[in-house]
Amino acid sequence: MKGIFITMEGPDGSGKTTQIDLLGRYLESRGYEIIVTREPGGNKISEAIREIILNKEYTEMGYMTEALLYASARAQLVSEVIAPALEAGKAVISDRFIDSSAVYQGIARGLGVENIYRINEYATQGITPDITILLDLPAKVGIGRKKEQKELDRMEMEKLDFHEKVADGYRQLASLAPDRIHVVDATFPIEEVHAQIIGELKDILI
Ligand code: TYD
Repeated sequence: MKGIFITMEGPDGSGKTTQIDLLGRYLESRGYEIIVTREPGGNKISEAIREIILNKEYTEMGYMTEALLYASARAQLVSEVIAPALEAGKAVISDRFIDSSAVYQGIARGLGVENIYRINEYATQGITPDITILLDLPAKVGIGRKKEQKELDRMEMEKLDFHEKVADGYRQLASLAPDRIHVVDATFPIEEVHAQIIGELKDILI
């Protein structure tokens, strides 16, 4: 793979979308050709799978079904968008990737991180991020921001306890892979968070 694969992770309401916009513009100003994508979604089929996963009416959805649907949305995104872009030497920024499944399904849902990595290794053809930025903030703050912005989806409607497991799960994951996962404090103002992210990326950018 010739390109750079950057993933942005964090609890709901951590500000990933805003930071991805800023990062994308920064990378373009440095001459990178960029592709921005989001999970679940990023192409026609994965967006259709997203509709199923996040539909508030599907309260009976099993955790394994949920994990496999995220993995299938990811499989399509990798083969249709991410792998070709990396082959073409582009910088790919993904709003969430495997770590979201490891944390939300593996830790918060209790399916086990190893099981999640196993199904996802198959789904992603072994493609892993070069660097992951974790936007860290207390679960309560994140979900509070979401409530102000929009109607909550099926995952966001989970109890605070679930979102706390997510926030802690991310920290656990980061401590296990400190070389790849770089933690940024997302409670700071937008421009300061952006500056922290650029600082974390300096070793990987040319
Ligand atoms: P996201 O698109 O970040 O939410 P929004 O655009 O509404 O802010 O993510 C959708 C939800 O899916 C979010 O609650 C996290 C969850 N999720 C998982 O549980 N597992 C996964 O593998 C992914 C990619 C997302």
